[in-house]
Amino acid sequence: MPHSKVHPHALSAIGNTPIVRLNRVAQESSANFFGKLEFMNPGGSVKDRIGGYLIEDAEKRGALKPGGVVVEATSGNTGVGLAMAAAIKGYRCIFVLPDKMSAEKINFLRAFGAEVVITPSGVEPEDPNSHYSVARAIAAKTPNSFLADQYDNLANRRAHYERTGPEIYSQMPEIDALVAGMGTGGTITGTGQYLKEKKPSVKLICADPVGSIIHDVYTHGKQISPTSPYKVEGIGEDFIPKNFNLPLLDAVVSVNDLESLTMARRLLLEEGLFAGTSAGTAVVAAKKWADSLSEKAAGLNILIILPDSGDRYMSKLWNDEWMMENGMLDPGKPGMPKATLSHGAKTPYGLKL
Ligand SMILES: Cc1ncc(COP(=O)(O)O)c(C=O)c1O
Repeated sequence: MPHSKVHPHALSAIGNTPIVRLNRVAQESSANFFGKLEFMNPGGSVKDRIGGYLIEDAEKRGALKPGGVVVEATSGNTGVGLAMAAAIKGYRCIFVLPDKMSAEKINFLRAFGAEVVITPSGVEPEDPNSHYSVARAIAAKTPNSFLADQYDNLANRRAHYERTGPEIYSQMPEIDALVAGMGTGGTITGTGQYLKEKKPSVKLICADPVGSIIHDVYTHGKQISPTSPYKVEGIGEDFIPKNFNLPLLDAVVSVNDLESLTMARRLLLEEGLFAGTSAGTAVVAAKKWADSLSEKAAGLNILIILPDSGDRYMSKLWNDEWMMENGMLDPGKPGMPKATLSHGAKTPYGLKL
């Protein structure tokens, strides 16, 4: 029963994610806010877009051969994207993750049959124990392996230049600004390069967690403040990957954990969108950037990448105890996120659940 809308395999169902207007979370601004629902990709994140692409690029270059092993340093989502493609094409996977990443991501990768190696968070990138160094060492000693190297492999940003950019431009030619967090930088650099070529007035705004070096390097040309740990996953950096192109950006906006996690909860409670922590960072950055423009923000169409699904953070963002222990939720304090999961949820009949 071949049908023109039937995909031949899961990789072909990646992309064409919907764009949705954000209403209540954007009420105080005169700009228009839109979210690109990257969690609707088959593997649940924007990183599906590079998983298959990096593997197919490596196959074409002869860097990955039948029976090969895919190795990667990942905060989890790239691992899922690679594991999906590897499942379809029959490769084995080894992923190296820092220990701050959620149990959901680690278990998801293990469910694919991938070998998962956990390294300490917060060590310098060049430290032999960092997830980058450990992934490189594993790739060096594993026969017939391919290090996907999402940070420095420029096929990452090319995937977004060839696909995400044209997709966004055809869905929303009225776009005035794109807001996204940067982990490898592939999303904003590749997509942004395409959008600026098509429409040079488009502004590119990086959402950067407090504790990352991107804001310093963009603003001062070098790191000024020391790095510090933060709870948001997948974005912010302690080094500058080759996929970054900082001169292409128009602003870098710093956002702290409380702002990010509060907004991630608001996205669900006020917009019905179940997204992860870095989506919260990006929405807050969009609002701060629009505020900085004051009346010039009126009517601007700001598209915000919502990179992954909230289900990856059930044990953290959606766990009231974890939120309280980490100072991200205080039912008594105004402005703090609302407790929703274990406190006071009621049935329509007033019975306490
Ligand atoms: C949850 C999440 N958000 C955002 C990003 C950033 O995307 P990019 O690496 O393309 O900059 C990542 C990357 O791993 C991620 O996992």
